[in-house]
Amino acid sequence: MQRQLQDQGGEARGAAATRHGLAAGDAGRPERADWTIDQGWERYTAEDHGVWKTLFERQTALLPGRACDAYVDGMRRLPIGADAIPDFRRLSDVLMQRTGWQVVAVPGLVPDEVFFDHLAHRRFPAGHFIRKPHELDYLEEPDVFHDVFGHVPMLMNPVIADYIQAYGEGGLRAQRLGYLPNLARVYWYTVEFGLLRQRDGLRLYGAGIASSYTESVFALDSASPNRLRFDLERVMRTHYRIDDFQETYFVLDDFDELLELARIDFAPLYARLQAGPEHGPGEVLATDTVVTRGDGSYHRARRADATPRGAST
Ligand SMILES: [Fe+2]
Repeated sequence: MQRQLQDQGGEARGAAATRHGLAAGDAGRPERADWTIDQGWERYTAEDHGVWKTLFERQTALLPGRACDAYVDGMRRLPIGADAIPDFRRLSDVLMQRTGWQVVAVPGLVPDEVFFDHLAHRRFPAGHFIRKPHELDYLEEPDVFHDVFGHVPMLMNPVIADYIQAYGEGGLRAQRLGYLPNLARVYWYTVEFGLLRQRDGLRLYGAGIASSYTESVFALDSASPNRLRFDLERVMRTHYRIDDFQETYFVLDDFDELLELARIDFAPLYARLQAGPEHGPGEVLATDTVVTRGDGSYHRARRADATPRGAST
């Protein structure tokens, strides 16, 4: 998920701001310069495969009618099943034939420039570890379930495959120009938390939603969040939540919109961003095309919960 790539101006700030991962030089840095490691598939334990099976089965039961057709189609063609954590070599064989992508194992979060360089070369860095049985809904770093179950089916789609490669190339440029937080919002609101309007209704395609038991329901079924028509500049100006469900989801009508993004020269856009406003994660603007206006009830209740007891007395 690259959740640690944070929105510097957002509500949620942290020590790892603007990073896709660990600082270079941190303990545990792998020997290879590109941070890849062997997946070590043979070393997964029965407990590891059992966690995968639990996550796979409960998520697979939720996704019909919620995941977009491209996700369902990608998943069907891949060697991903309930009984075992997928072997990245087998995934890569199928992906390579279809869209020229491969899955490479990394120990966890990696530095931004390493992450972007992998994407620019059609390598998806996936965490090789899996969460513990008592932490099914808790993720400190993207694990193999989020990265494989959430991301890899969409990499089977040729448009998404090109888009994510372009994002990697754009990320290296944005980092040089100082606009990485703005570009990161595009990744966040598309690759991680994007919705698509299909002929038969709203569907999810973002990996952060597809791999989450609770957010796959919240994003589509809850009355709380806003669902707004995707607009590139609007998204680049919009902060996001890293600590909870999103307050707003952006909706595409067609994946081809993303392909257009891959062709856009962002330099004039970055110049405009310097002058204009920034928007909070729950704001709805007069200029937005609203798909559904949220009532904000979920996050309002969460904020009330966070109020210190006795604060008003
Ligand atoms: Fe992700």
